[in-house]
Amino acid sequence: MNLNSLVAGLLVSATLGAVVQAADLKIAAGSTGSNFTFLRTQLDKFEADTGNKVTIVQMTTSSSANFSQYRLWLAAGNKDVDVYQTDVVWAPQLADQFVDLTEATKDVIGDHFPSIVASQTVDGKLVAMPNYTDAPALFYRKDLLEKYGKLPPKTWAELGETAKEIQDKERAAGQKDLWGFVFQASAYEGLTCNALEWIASAGGGHIVEANGDISINNEKAAAAIETVKGWVGTIAPQGVLAYKEEEARGVWQTGNSVFMRNWPYAYALGNGNDSAIKGKFGVTPLPAGEAGQDPASTLGGWNLAVSKYSDNQEAAIQLVKFLASKETQKKRVVQLSSMPTIAALYDDKDVAEAQPFMPTWKPIFETAVPRPSAAAKVKYNEVSAKFWGAVHNTLSGNGTAADNLELLEVELTDLKGNGW
Ligand code: GLC
Repeated sequence: MNLNSLVAGLLVSATLGAVVQAADLKIAAGSTGSNFTFLRTQLDKFEADTGNKVTIVQMTTSSSANFSQYRLWLAAGNKDVDVYQTDVVWAPQLADQFVDLTEATKDVIGDHFPSIVASQTVDGKLVAMPNYTDAPALFYRKDLLEKYGKLPPKTWAELGETAKEIQDKERAAGQKDLWGFVFQASAYEGLTCNALEWIASAGGGHIVEANGDISINNEKAAAAIETVKGWVGTIAPQGVLAYKEEEARGVWQTGNSVFMRNWPYAYALGNGNDSAIKGKFGVTPLPAGEAGQDPASTLGGWNLAVSKYSDNQEAAIQLVKFLASKETQKKRVVQLSSMPTIAALYDDKDVAEAQPFMPTWKPIFETAVPRPSAAAKVKYNEVSAKFWGAVHNTLSGNGTAADNLELLEVELTDLKGNGW
């Protein structure tokens, strides 16, 4: 402990009028984008302010891989991790392992979007504190679309055509590495998000509906997946079958794709000084199935939860409140372009100046489509894994979409049993 934090620790003890031991905290968090760098800077401030020490337990870039690890740790009553950064879909499954934050956050929770708070509330218990929200958009190369006289596509079919035309012409002109479209089709949670968008925007439902009905085995869903299968190896590299967010961004940000589907974090990074496409791209809502239909963006987002097994719950709650505070969320959106969960920040002058994309993105977030996590409850992760498995098989050429969805329906019916 350095002198500053020692003094700060003593000050905290003095203010509380009791001897409070500085805590040694650990926070588990995913590694997409610049998350660790940003988090470390904030943690340094928290350490200086409170005298506590915080170490980051670095997780992977895959939400579902991190979920599996968290679940193992929590099932074993692991005391090593105090705070978990959690995906918006996990609340029902991990609710029993986390501390109820209702009481501790009642002074600030009203500042956050009620729908997000609701998504993190299970049987009246606030399982996690909203940290940032997420909804993907279509990133497009303004320069290339202008060069070929194209508008950002409104339907997936239009996207396919524009991507192919520009890819073909640019390649003929010497841009051999250019692809039309990159997205996330690795076998993980991100593929569930992508495929839900293709299917929901084609009127093919939401895998499992809010009332618990399994709706995935239908013609519109099958057709939407078959369309995307036609892109693999044509307008998207074959390797897209192993892409998560960061691999897609890698191709895009080096200037090698006309379009990309990604979350807001890719906006700030795309405009970074080391980006080949700085200032050359725009964002627009994802395409719809057919003209006139609504597009669908999957609702994402990350929250902060305190482990029931932590020996430092009070300090851990203090950390969660600090990271989810208006002040820290403002820094997060200004630096990382991640979307705040605090409504007032959308009208903040500094935020609007730093992130001009915010007005475009707010309606995308407001109409985003949730994954069936509330419907499938404790079985959501199994539902998602079976769904992304069926989609990945189809995209890889193992079975038709119709056959794979029929099989998926049987598996989900079995998993559901007498109810979710
Ligand atoms: C983003 C979203 C998260 C989603 C993940 C899938 O991080 O915020 O909700 O599960 O992407 O890869």
